Amino acid sequence: RSSFRILGIETSCDDTGVAIVNSERQLLGDAIHNQNQIHLENGGILPPVAGFHHRANMEPVANQAFTAAGLTMSDIDAVAATIKPGLSLSLEVGMKYGTFLCKKWKKPFIPIHHMEAHALTARMVDENVRFPFLVLLISGGHCLLALVEGVDSFLLLGKSMDIAPGEVFDKFHRQLKLRNIAELSHLSGGHAVEVMARKATNPVEFKFEPFSSDVTCDFFFSGMVTKIKHFIAEEEVKYGTTADGVIESAPNLCAAMQLSITKHLCRRVERAMLFLERKSLIPSSSRSLVVSGGVAANKFIANGLKLVCDNYNYHLSVPPPKLCNDNGVMIAWNGVERYRENVGILKWNQLDDVQVS
Ligand code: KG4
Ligand code: ZN
Repeated sequence: RSSFRILGIETSCDDTGVAIVNSERQLLGDAIHNQNQIHLENGGILPPVAGFHHRANMEPVANQAFTAAGLTMSDIDAVAATIKPGLSLSLEVGMKYGTFLCKKWKKPFIPIHHMEAHALTARMVDENVRFPFLVLLISGGHCLLALVEGVDSFLLLGKSMDIAPGEVFDKFHRQLKLRNIAELSHLSGGHAVEVMARKATNPVEFKFEPFSSDVTCDFFFSGMVTKIKHFIAEEEVKYGTTADGVIESAPNLCAAMQLSITKHLCRRVERAMLFLERKSLIPSSSRSLVVSGGVAANKFIANGLKLVCDNYNYHLSVPPPKLCNDNGVMIAWNGVERYRENVGILKWNQLDDVQVS
């Protein structure tokens, strides 16, 4: 297919994102509405509340993206929307709006897998990322390592057997009460921990046992969560807290947990690289590691992964945070990749049975 434009819609969790991307990799317009503050007040995401806010914001956000691009539906060649995985009450809003637009304007619809979109986004901004490439997705909800062989062909190498690394950062951030520190209060859990870790005087004061042995590429984080709780309790008893309610040794503790997570991620990535080499699954000419998801914004983790990449001759590609977090651009780009290859495109009159999951 020659030149075309795709509208992308993301509503799998708590971000309402819409974007228009063309086949020349250009972002023509986008808009996003984030429900973070609302869910913080509720102490977590309540699916019906998330669904309510998606419904309230879906059309305004879409209109904002169209206005930013200076385009209307008649300029769009197909609509892509996330249909899985995620909260069904959230997914349903974007899927229904997308299929509604397609039926009304007689345009094709492209159902999108949220993880596939995270994995492919790097290709929009980095021409060096060619199939097959290795991807590490690390966020508050995801943790997986896969070989991406093509637009819809993935070989899963490892995943978290318990919680995602972003959750570890967020739990730790809550337990340390870092939100009480004014200069960190506006940052996400992981970001606050990263900033705090830079103030460490001794990053190896607290020692975490090495994670389980490297017999697979799977990830385990819950042992670390237990250990952190133990350290915090011990420090509070020994030294009390500062006026903010934060323990004195918070910077050292932040640095230690960040280092421990980084080591675990690096060892699994290294193992995956050795496996791909041994099985000749990745040609030596175009080796790339793509790191995406909210945790990919962490510079310390990225630096650790860069060392592994340098060692194994991989190109490291970390998309900008705006593209690593959930957003409409990655869905639109995934739509571009599928539309170009003609995979999984539904006609406007075939949309009655589309389901979210
Ligand atoms: O991808 P994302 O926006 O949402 C999903 O979870 O799908 O990722 C958010 C997660 C949160 O857990 C947040 O604490 C973490 O990414 N995060 C970070 C950093 N910035 C955000 N974790 C570590 N270091 C950071 N700089
Ligand atoms: Zn995501």
